[in-house]
Amino acid sequence: MYRSFNLMGYRVTGSKCLTICLGFTFIMGCFLASLPIIPSEPTNHQISSTTYSKKKLAIIVPFRDRFEELLEFVPHMYKFLNKQNILFHIFIIQQKDNNRFNRASLINVGFIYTKKDYDYIAMHDVDLLPMNNNLKYGYPKNGPYHISSPQTHPKYHYDTFIGGILLIKQEEFDLVNGMSNNYWGWGLEDDEFYVRLKDAKLKVLRPENITTGPDNTFRHIHDKTYRKRDTRKCFNQREITRHRDRVTGVHDVAYKIHSTHNVSIDSLQITVINVELICNKTATPWCQCPEPPKVKKVK
Ligand SMILES: *[C@@H]1O[C@H](CO)[C@@H](O)[C@H](O)[C@H]1NC(C)=O
Ligand SMILES: *[C@@H]1O[C@H](CO)[C@@H](O)[C@H](O)[C@H]1NC(C)=O
Ligand SMILES: *[C@@H]1O[C@H](CO)[C@@H](O)[C@H](O)[C@H]1NC(C)=O
Repeated sequence: MYRSFNLMGYRVTGSKCLTICLGFTFIMGCFLASLPIIPSEPTNHQISSTTYSKKKLAIIVPFRDRFEELLEFVPHMYKFLNKQNILFHIFIIQQKDNNRFNRASLINVGFIYTKKDYDYIAMHDVDLLPMNNNLKYGYPKNGPYHISSPQTHPKYHYDTFIGGILLIKQEEFDLVNGMSNNYWGWGLEDDEFYVRLKDAKLKVLRPENITTGPDNTFRHIHDKTYRKRDTRKCFNQREITRHRDRVTGVHDVAYKIHSTHNVSIDSLQITVINVELICNKTATPWCQCPEPPKVKKVK
């Protein structure tokens, strides 16, 4: 057992609504129908002849049913990262199936999709906006770089926390076989990933000299009553997901890409990838819990 897993009691706060993403799909459809897709003229983040040797960042956003957050996230990130001269593109990895949300598998898919063309990824929550310009998104040459440190994250303050926003080189993500595919529903997948990094002797670095705190380093656009988290546990999920997974990862994530769309929000380009995750119900029957979601009081 690892310390990080024991600390998880802090994290259970509610249940996530399982509203499917048809609404989003519809709106995206409208977008595609009504908005011009911006042709690939150089926008301010794109490669120019003087900066082509710079490292490229793929921002991987695991996604379902967070359209309002996305509308804020995209312009904010463009503004924030352009100030730092980061070469980046935003990939929204949208889960399109009837299984419970699987953040880790979606990140694995995003990694595979971007691996050829990008040097490093940011595993990025859509509802966490960096506000302090000293949070640097540059190439993490000395090891995985946890932007949303426990000292500054609005909610999670345990030492081994690496959720929220994490930068990692393609090679390092590959080296640890990416993330476990066993985590259907909310929570713990990032703690398991921490153990993978630790086992591979990769030390997680964090921003230094940040003088802002949990209240003003990030904007957390998360409405916890409106956006319920799916904290259900069914079958033997609790037992299995508390342990290091030495089997599954980026090398065996089962999925189909249904479609990809270049979409623009306020004329800023992003790519939406619609992914169907395939659940092996023998291995992880909890990808669908039989009982209806429990309504829990949120702290
Ligand atoms: C943080 O501040 C200390 C003390 O002023 C300085 O030595 C160190 O280089 C700074 N670190 C970074 C990453 O700026
Ligand atoms: C989206 O844009 C990328 C880069 O310009 C291009 O390679 C890709 O084919 C486009 N995809 C679609 C579905 O238009
Ligand atoms: C599903 O998982 C079971 C148990 O882990 C395994 O034996 C089986 O080969 C898997 N099936 C597929 C299609 O991967």
